[in-house]
Amino acid sequence: MPSYDTHNYDVLVIGAGGAGLRAAIEASAAGVSVGLICKSLLGKAHTVMAEGGIAAALANVDERDNWKVHFADTMRGGQYLNNWRMAELHAKEAPDRVKELEAWGALFDRTKDGLILQRNFGGHKYPRLAHVGDRTGLEMIRTLQDHGIHLGIEVHMECTITSLLMGGDRVTGAFGYEREKGRFKIFKSNAIVLATGGVGRAYKITSNSWEYTGDGMSLAYHAGAELIDMEFLQFHPTGMIWPPSVQGILVTEGVRGEGGILLNKNGERFMFSDIPELYRNQTADNEEEGWRYTQGDRNARRPPELLTRDHVARCIVRQIKEGKGSPHNGVFLDISWIKNKIPHAAEHIKKKLPSMYHQFKKLADIDITVEPMEVGPTTHYMMGGIRVDADTQMSTIPGLFAAGECAAGLHGSNRLGGNSLSDLLVFGKRAGEYAAKFSKENKGGHLNEEEIANAAINALEPFERNEGESPFQIQYDLQEMMQELVGIVRHEEELWRAVEHLKMLHDRAARVKIVGNREYNPGWHTALDLQHLLTVSEAITIAAIERKESRGAHFREDYPQKDEQSGKFNLVIKKNADGEMKLRREPIKEVRTDLQQIIEEMK
Ligand code: FUM
Repeated sequence: MPSYDTHNYDVLVIGAGGAGLRAAIEASAAGVSVGLICKSLLGKAHTVMAEGGIAAALANVDERDNWKVHFADTMRGGQYLNNWRMAELHAKEAPDRVKELEAWGALFDRTKDGLILQRNFGGHKYPRLAHVGDRTGLEMIRTLQDHGIHLGIEVHMECTITSLLMGGDRVTGAFGYEREKGRFKIFKSNAIVLATGGVGRAYKITSNSWEYTGDGMSLAYHAGAELIDMEFLQFHPTGMIWPPSVQGILVTEGVRGEGGILLNKNGERFMFSDIPELYRNQTADNEEEGWRYTQGDRNARRPPELLTRDHVARCIVRQIKEGKGSPHNGVFLDISWIKNKIPHAAEHIKKKLPSMYHQFKKLADIDITVEPMEVGPTTHYMMGGIRVDADTQMSTIPGLFAAGECAAGLHGSNRLGGNSLSDLLVFGKRAGEYAAKFSKENKGGHLNEEEIANAAINALEPFERNEGESPFQIQYDLQEMMQELVGIVRHEEELWRAVEHLKMLHDRAARVKIVGNREYNPGWHTALDLQHLLTVSEAITIAAIERKESRGAHFREDYPQKDEQSGKFNLVIKKNADGEMKLRREPIKEVRTDLQQIIEEMK
């Protein structure tokens, strides 16, 4: 067997966004050697797309807030499919993780009294999102990177992992390649943390950049781990839609948190006409009350633009379908209207939403302080993913951990905005801690030479074919198809058509041909990414067929209501011995009595 560049770590972290960095920091602090792998450059992560803030019940702006309210909001947002233990840990530990981040140098916006400022976001009862203007994720990555870099963590940039290596039933390493030179790399490790983020690149319109091809979920699945809740994919209601080159780029919910309103082409504030029963008593039914809420009036109810993302996204789609959309098939998001309400509104908007101001000015030649933006839903976040133990974040494979977006459970059927950043910190830390512990207690995993040889053969296969199709066309067709048939509004007949398409795409991908050599070869990268994209797309589609109800982010036109029985199980996906994807229903464990009481009280 050829000798490949081989590295040995006690803990290997794959993915260097917020969760990966936080896991690496914690593992390193536990005294073990840590390797950190980034698919692109360190610091470039989807974490920065959580712009509007990090959710934590600090109670700095409203002292009525506490972990119990945050827990109940998260469970309600996820329509009670959440792993309730994760929701409990998250709500309890988020405030400490935010304060820790501040101690490491994150510069949050401030209240008049010098406390960390918190803003309103959809589905959160009180102003709860600690923020840095509209660049919170960026500040978080900067802080974690600065902190982590001094701990001796070894970073491998522009490196892609193509398969996990197993020693019996436990994970013992990972096989990958340098994207620049195409050279193979082997990582031997007693414990691995997957923190590779989401799957947005399976869709045509997405806020995710090129890295997000479902790698972690697919790697774990092919190694034998279980996936859960894959039908629940979040479409953020507000992405840019024009010009076409910027379609999908996120427009933070912070715009609505600061008072931004949604309008159709007739200037109607359409969100007022569809307030779900579940939220009716918390939602304002007139403009004045909604505005007072965003200005901190504690007795006012929230504006309907701050209902949960699934609902807002569907309302937007409905407007467009009814012919009431904006010129480029979206709706209008207007923050400039606050000039009727406060003095110096333009300065206020630039101060609170500096990135949005520049983003629209530079990319669309729109001044958001004087005119509305055009927006539409964009594929943003995967609630489903690798099944993990709530306390340790270990998957169903010994030694394989997962955290952040590629892990599932916390958010149930729908994530509340801002809960992603707190998720990354709370569970990134836990994954790092328990991976280090596992590594210390389970030394001696071995690499299997045959497995390594096979990993190399598989990776090089697309070069060996004399003829075949370009991977770019297959990826393009997949994205179009998923957008069209497995999007925001789903239907059984369309989902089955998607299954047929996926079979054909699988066949085409198996015959893909790459020209050129291994250096700087984007065609090769795409061919390898395709395997992951097809795996997660299949998982999303079969789970979407099986869930015959509408709940959270999963909306079935043919089953538009919630179904009580369906609310009692999660869908679990696993590869069987024949290599086929199998799905099963699993009853949700009854919520612990004290937590059930909290949920009832908060209702
Ligand atoms: O709208 C946003 O700023 C996104 C936040 C999130 O996804 O948590």
